[in-house]
Amino acid sequence: MKELDEIKKLFEESLGLVKTMEDLNNLRTNFLGKSGHLTTCMKLIKDMSPEDKKSFGVGVNVLKDEVNKGIAEKQVELENLAIEKELADMPKVDLTTPTGKEKGSLHPVTIIEQRLGNIFRSMGFTIEDGNEVETEYNNFEAVNIPKFHPARDMQDTFYLNNGQVLKTHTSASQNRIMRKYGAPLKAIFPGRCFRNEELDASHENTFFQMEGMMIDKNVSISNLIYFMKTMLSEVFEREVNVRLRPGFFPFVEPGFELDCSCPYCGGKGCRVCKHSGWIELCPCGMIHPNVLKMGGIDPEEYQGFAFGLGLSRLVMMTYGFGDIRHLNGKDLKILEQTKLK
Ligand code: DAH
Repeated sequence: MKELDEIKKLFEESLGLVKTMEDLNNLRTNFLGKSGHLTTCMKLIKDMSPEDKKSFGVGVNVLKDEVNKGIAEKQVELENLAIEKELADMPKVDLTTPTGKEKGSLHPVTIIEQRLGNIFRSMGFTIEDGNEVETEYNNFEAVNIPKFHPARDMQDTFYLNNGQVLKTHTSASQNRIMRKYGAPLKAIFPGRCFRNEELDASHENTFFQMEGMMIDKNVSISNLIYFMKTMLSEVFEREVNVRLRPGFFPFVEPGFELDCSCPYCGGKGCRVCKHSGWIELCPCGMIHPNVLKMGGIDPEEYQGFAFGLGLSRLVMMTYGFGDIRHLNGKDLKILEQTKLK
């Protein structure tokens, strides 16, 4: 019996030292193999007295069970450790992580539109949606371009069978917005516009504008200049100057072409401003009384300014695109240059 205790102690010690499957196999052989400790013990039985035989036999069997159990448990433990190690050594792959290569990005027009939106929102303007398919009335009559007015020639567009048109300018939404909110009103409305154009590097049949209107009591050209200067300085992230030249648009009186001092050379003259120091950026003016009236606003009480920023043009300038057709093109290499980092 003393031997059994010793074997048990030896087994427990040896089991504690097992680190690998190989160690475990050796242990198994040492205790249960043909000449293992337990097998050798069994051989002693035949020389024992019948009483000793019985108690010793029971003792050996109990120990044998313990040894088998210990080995089996150790085996499970080692197998689990092996799985854990394999998992830990595996390269970490998160299938939900987008890989850099396929990562999408906002379209450059959207990027600039959102930037402008934030600037105007911070100055108290709301951002409105405009329709792409408009009534002929909203696109022309409501902005003081009656039927057969020569201004229509410059804005030939796509006419639908039902008499509606693909809007030629964001000014087409002016009437709807005035009717929706009334005065006072401060809103911008970016949108896609369409014209029947001879296509070239600076003319597309589909392009983007951003219209803005401010209507209130005592609004003057000074307000127009202030907002345009502030907005453009924000857009170009440097102080710019603006100047107004007379320009004709049927829906404003007086109407202007607004030039901005070249943000790239600071007005000294460069390739972008064609060495003039100024860039023609944004037609604008004081809203024509007829337009206010048609929008349901009394021109005796309220005045306002409006502007129509060439969004596509601004995008091209900002990113140095030489051809407007890239903006609707499918060449992702070009569009990806503007990806936000
Ligand atoms: N709608 C004009 C165009 O597309 C641009 C424009 C000019 C808009 C003067 C305005 C404005 O709001 O005041 O040619």
